[in-house]
Amino acid sequence: MLPISADRIAAALNTQKIGGRIVYRPLMTSTMVVAQEEIAAASPHGSVILCQRQEHGIGRMQRQWISPEGGVYLSVILYPPEYVCSALTMLASLAVADSIEEVCGCSVDLKWPNDVLIGNKKVSGILACSGMLREGTLWAVVGIGINANIDTAELPEDLRTTVTSLSETCGREISREQLIIKILQELERRYQQFLAGEMMWAEWEKRLITIGREVVVHDNSQTYSGFAESIDKDGALVIRRENGKLVTLSAGDVTLKEN
Ligand code: BTN
Repeated sequence: MLPISADRIAAALNTQKIGGRIVYRPLMTSTMVVAQEEIAAASPHGSVILCQRQEHGIGRMQRQWISPEGGVYLSVILYPPEYVCSALTMLASLAVADSIEEVCGCSVDLKWPNDVLIGNKKVSGILACSGMLREGTLWAVVGIGINANIDTAELPEDLRTTVTSLSETCGREISREQLIIKILQELERRYQQFLAGEMMWAEWEKRLITIGREVVVHDNSQTYSGFAESIDKDGALVIRRENGKLVTLSAGDVTLKEN
């Protein structure tokens, strides 16, 4: 398998900020953890944390993100205005979807809030978090994990039926470097457009296979079922429950009911 070279990625990027600094190590605990250390050390806006393998990859809702050799594991450090924080999952998922489609030539679906799917199986996940430094500066980290060149038969048994990889879908090895370059460029483009006032919620809503479906959403200990009507202006999912009332959910795990 072709290794990832941070130098080649840096040389090929035509971004202004994202990827201006790339912290690369073959093995990390988690790029999210290294990102926190980098923020504490005043790493600049757009810094990218990249590795080939993670020992303790972090997924949403306290899950583990299994991160063997062959995947893409990166985090991007941003210092955004507050209103952009709730849009970061949307911006990253659109950037990842477009990049996979261009680099791999296959079509992908998005499932609210952060899943990238191929044929109903998860191929990528996005994890965004944010906070504030003591002096009041907002920080955010966008983590992106992609099952690029991974043999899913080697993943833990409970994952094998629900995940897929790009190499299995396309029947060939995917250039992780090309994919990473495209994602970073797309993320910067979308981030700048969002800052310039182009909201993109409607584009995201159109791409989400969740909308217009009967769904069940698990959010902590609560379960909501109903019809997924739309996305609100902060990216939250608006569901019409069986009693006709609307509920707005900003997080959760969605199961799509059969049509
Ligand atoms: C999800 O649960 O769907 C989100 C998964 C996010 C995984 C990525 S891999 C790169 C970054 N580092 C981590 O530890 N997690 C995110």
